[in-house]
Amino acid sequence: MTELATVSAPAVEERIAVPAATEVVVVLDYGGQYSQLIARRVRECGVFSELIPHHVPLAEIAARKPRGIILSGGPASVYAPDAPHLERGLLELGVPVLGICYGMQLLVHELGGRVEQAEVGEFGRSDLTVSEHGVLLRDTPREQTCWMSHRDTVFAAPPGFTALASSSASPVAAVESVERGIYGIQFHPEVVHTPYGQQILGQFLTGVCGCEPTWSAASIVEEQIARIRAQVGEGRVICGLSGGVDSSVAALLVHRAVGDQLTCVFVDHGLMRKDEGEQVVGAFRDTFKVPLVAVDAEERFLRRLRGVTDPEAKRKAIGAEFIRVFEEEAAKLAGAPGGSERRNGEGVRGGAGGADEEGARFLVQGTLYSDVIESGGGTGAATIKSHHNVGGLPDDLRFELVEPLRTLFKDEVRAVGAELGLPERLVWRQPFPGPGLAIRIVGGEATKERLDVLREADHILQEEIRKAGLYRELWQSFCVLPDIRTVGVQGDERTYGYVVVIRAVTSDDAMTADWARLPYDLLETIASRMIGELREVNRVVLDITSKPPGTIEWE
Ligand code: XMP
Repeated sequence: MTELATVSAPAVEERIAVPAATEVVVVLDYGGQYSQLIARRVRECGVFSELIPHHVPLAEIAARKPRGIILSGGPASVYAPDAPHLERGLLELGVPVLGICYGMQLLVHELGGRVEQAEVGEFGRSDLTVSEHGVLLRDTPREQTCWMSHRDTVFAAPPGFTALASSSASPVAAVESVERGIYGIQFHPEVVHTPYGQQILGQFLTGVCGCEPTWSAASIVEEQIARIRAQVGEGRVICGLSGGVDSSVAALLVHRAVGDQLTCVFVDHGLMRKDEGEQVVGAFRDTFKVPLVAVDAEERFLRRLRGVTDPEAKRKAIGAEFIRVFEEEAAKLAGAPGGSERRNGEGVRGGAGGADEEGARFLVQGTLYSDVIESGGGTGAATIKSHHNVGGLPDDLRFELVEPLRTLFKDEVRAVGAELGLPERLVWRQPFPGPGLAIRIVGGEATKERLDVLREADHILQEEIRKAGLYRELWQSFCVLPDIRTVGVQGDERTYGYVVVIRAVTSDDAMTADWARLPYDLLETIASRMIGELREVNRVVLDITSKPPGTIEWE
């Protein structure tokens, strides 16, 4: 995957820009696998959350004026020599603190309770018995199930704390000191296997921290529009549209903000799914009236891919060609009569280094909050994670980035998209790799003939999956076309045709994935349609590999 070279970073603070009147709850990340999920669940309760690494200086946390602080789980033992420790000052900010799993162990250990390694760890579903509801577990049943994942165990609450609950392997599974505003739970409220988890989180946020559950992704649209206007002024903006939800929503927000100062460039590399190009052009140019340059670059990409069979070589070739096309279009825009008229007529303000002479000064990127977190959090990470959908732009293309989705998780981007009137088909589109169908022709060259077969097979798959109502349940569903032929027999004739592989997975974030158990009847319909309708195909197989050990894509 090509890295997007960092183009001159925007003049925003290092931390994500939070709407001024928004109440923030800080989630401190101790390295747990569910930390992002905690931040998302807090937002689902209607409270804005920021996930930041645990080692961020106290002053930075205090500067956010959080209404509450949540300490996440983590893989360490509080007794390990290099275990992340608890900054005592955190407990003196006068802000309620909730420790989850390792977060709770840290609190208990630090405040004089007893944490020890138990004989056996506790992993997976557990039965929780509530002995005292206290404030945190209010209105939840005395017996409930929860999800545990720990080896160290709390045996005694710190002095002054109330032990609220236990499980078979955890003598103390929840503690609180209402007076000190400190709470802890050993189990994971953020995972669906803890049925009362969301309620408990909600109780902490509203009942303990006093937050108003008013935040929603859609409510930030106006705020973002104002922010974009302030950043861009009268400058010209360019956006590479890929057809995916991130670049679509980012482009729409910017268009709402600065209208025709934005030009979108959609490069159709001929590696898209069936009808995808038309849908993007239809939505943006025809429905939303966004100035759009659609480039039919199929020939160029196919030429470039001739003889290329190695997966990484394909990715590189596509990335490089994408940059070239994008640059050419950006240059044309600068020279276009409309462009120069706008530039001369309105006089672009503050063009860096004569950038106004060169056309657009700003580049829209659909960077998401998870990209910000993964590239080092809101703590001043300089690198911007590669934006999958735009092939990667070179260093000397000097743009200032406009990133209106920087505070949002993927599901929130979809909510904003729906709010902005983006067609349902675009809002819920499954992720699609930047190099497109080319990396799904495995072990061979991506020729026009093969791409067409793959595109048609993929279309049948999508149609049937949508018809069965399963499209949204799947993280991705697609076909793979290995460069092999197999023998078959059709209508008394021996055939020698392509094998189509069906790949359908469920996943939360593409880091891990499980193969989707598609109903047999549906698989049969799909396979018979593919073989019946596509002359070149005589065999259909199903990939039943999870990730790990497999990956989602085949190349
Ligand atoms: P893997 O195959 O690594 O894929 O399990 C994880 C996710 O990344 C997508 N993917 C790509 N996206 N350019 C992209 O923009 C690529 O080269 C690429 N390779 C994989 C894949 O579709 C899945 O969602």
